[in-house]
Amino acid sequence: MAAQGMLSRKITCNSHGEDSSYFLGWKEYERNPYDETNNPTGIIQMGLAENQLSFDLLETWLSKNPKAATFMNNGSSLFKHMALFQDYHGLPSFKKALAEFMGEIRGNRVKIDAERLVLTAGATSANETLMFCLAEPGEAFLVPTPYYPGFDRDLKWRTGAEIIPIHCHSSNGFQLTEASLREAYDDAVNRKMKVKGVLVTNPSNPLGTTMSSSSLKVLLTFVGAKGIHLICDEIYSGTVFSSPSFISVTEEALLAECNVSKDCIHIVYSLSKDLGLPGFRVGVIYTCNDHVLAAATKMSSFGLVSSQTQYLLSKMLSDKKFTANYIAENRTRLRLRQKQFVSGLKRCGIGCLKSNAGLFCWVDLSSLLESPTFEGEMQLWMKMLHHVGINISPGSSFHCSEPGWFRVCFANMSEKVLSISLQRIKIFVKQSRDKQGKAPAMGPTKPAVSRKSLFTRWISRADSAESERF
Ligand SMILES: Cc1ncc(COP(=O)(O)O)c(C=O)c1O
Repeated sequence: MAAQGMLSRKITCNSHGEDSSYFLGWKEYERNPYDETNNPTGIIQMGLAENQLSFDLLETWLSKNPKAATFMNNGSSLFKHMALFQDYHGLPSFKKALAEFMGEIRGNRVKIDAERLVLTAGATSANETLMFCLAEPGEAFLVPTPYYPGFDRDLKWRTGAEIIPIHCHSSNGFQLTEASLREAYDDAVNRKMKVKGVLVTNPSNPLGTTMSSSSLKVLLTFVGAKGIHLICDEIYSGTVFSSPSFISVTEEALLAECNVSKDCIHIVYSLSKDLGLPGFRVGVIYTCNDHVLAAATKMSSFGLVSSQTQYLLSKMLSDKKFTANYIAENRTRLRLRQKQFVSGLKRCGIGCLKSNAGLFCWVDLSSLLESPTFEGEMQLWMKMLHHVGINISPGSSFHCSEPGWFRVCFANMSEKVLSISLQRIKIFVKQSRDKQGKAPAMGPTKPAVSRKSLFTRWISRADSAESERF
């Protein structure tokens, strides 16, 4: 085996973030996955933001358009052309169809210029590419908490850039404020870091909420005043299922009102969530900054979208009847599913942050914590995983500053499996409340111990945990 000294620092340091409970929950699930017939006591995966609700619509389109998957066009095969095509600018027909699809999701209030798109292998690659373009190692991006755990990997790991959290709180529904932005900025400056920008996810993962026009104005005015960049990860833009409607930072009126240069605004998007195609690895950067556009296009060589995928999706997305129906139907299904889940939780006495988007809810389980700390949160997560049999993601893995919040996904399973998970939660809540002797709910308070040390302690305990279920 090669000596550690012969390996790069990148692979020997542990800044990838894979030891987060977010990813460890997936591993636990894979060891014992629920299956109605073969493993009915297994773990139900509710920690994966996957959209399986509209898969039948994609499959129906494919069965009606078999030539798209077999490269047949007007009786001749495009196979050779597709197999040889490898221009990093991407297939023009695909970029045009994708730009129009993005415009359609934004209610056609925005015209996305296909010439300003950079194709990437998913939003993961798009976010990292932007970091390489905008920040030197050690320079910082401000990111509101709670945030998607993958950002620790995507923004920091290979680029050496840093994330400074903008702490948001339950008292105002975790909304971004000018004071929280300023506090994070000053924190970075005190730590002698140069702030290069702010990155927000709108609609938010994990909150399932869209940013209001006033929050967007606060944000845009802030980045404009500081002369820094803004990255908006709009990967969930097509999942907005009820009001208020989604406002993209690409909307001209908003930018004009806040006096911010378009050169500093960059959008990240992907087909992983709205179309439910994470396996196809289709992501995109949309930027009006010529330097970023040119550099990101060159960098996209490291994570291109295969021409086979581009061709198939160019056909699918240029079918306007299909896209209009898909967008509307997918929203309806998400709305119904979220309602079913939220009312099921309500019947158990569990509340969530009010949401209007996403594939998940931000659930308040603080009343079930044995202690109102991050240690209590880890203990509850472990019970959920090993005793209740559901994998949900603790707020601490999203860098939430208040213990007791969990992200619970509802769109990666059938309605029947969702009912089973709600049944499991109901029994668990009843048992916990009986044990607590109906003690009053505890409000979240500040952490007593650091999350990292708690997690290390948890891993050793989890290995020996019994997997019995009620
Ligand atoms: C906010 C956010 N950005 C990026 C990603 C990564 O998406 P992709 O599969 O397109 O790489 C995810 C996936 O969950 C996400 O939630």
